[in-house]
Amino acid sequence: MDIVNKSLPLIAIDGPAGAGKSSTSQAVAKRLGVPFLDTGALYRAAAWAVNKTDVNPLDAAAVARVVEKAAITIVEASKGLLVVVDGVDITTALREPLITKIVGPVCEVPEVRNKLVAMQRCWAERGFGVMEGRDIGTVVLPQARLKVFITARPEVRARRRLKELNLPDESKTIAQLTAEIIERDQRDSQRANSPLKQADDAILLDNSDMIFGEQVDFILRLAARRFEMRLYGV
Ligand code: DC
Repeated sequence: MDIVNKSLPLIAIDGPAGAGKSSTSQAVAKRLGVPFLDTGALYRAAAWAVNKTDVNPLDAAAVARVVEKAAITIVEASKGLLVVVDGVDITTALREPLITKIVGPVCEVPEVRNKLVAMQRCWAERGFGVMEGRDIGTVVLPQARLKVFITARPEVRARRRLKELNLPDESKTIAQLTAEIIERDQRDSQRANSPLKQADDAILLDNSDMIFGEQVDFILRLAARRFEMRLYGV
């Protein structure tokens, strides 16, 4: 399958949890006027489907059977991307702590990855868009002409997470969250199937000391050069 069109912006954005990939990718896509796909939402949808059954999320064979049968679709609605499983709009349920807890083992099942990677490639067949995840530049769209690997120091990611969770700002909590983040990075980068890894041709963006607009502009400038586009104000 050759879905490279040199003039169309197809952008792969990867990086660890909590680096701000999703909001940044969404802002870049909006500015470029192209669709955006958060692939983590698809893995979360698979976890949601598993959670609807009495299957143990650690039972890989049973997880594979449930996810292979589930009708997972993405709908590009005016209010954003909707994720629908077996006819139910589950977009708002995807961020629930229970889903976050079980998505780890579910996303490691090879059959789950095969099904969802195929969906992601299908989404990109139109040749343009911003796709964000962990393995987009390395596995899903190795042909993307612009790949960005977004990261930030673990402690910075922990502080952002703390803000999101609305917990009190205590150094112990920061230390705990930082340790959890380091552990999750290790797990994600050491797993056998599609580990989190910067593609050789990806550009590293460490946004630890950047404000939101700076990182969006950084990617837009790269896109303007790579795809020979004229973008005003960046
Ligand atoms: O980005 P997120 O937290 O919504 O991702 C949910 C889970 O899916 C997380 O455990 C990482 C995994 N994931 C993955 O393995 N590959 C992707 N392309 C995207 C997410």
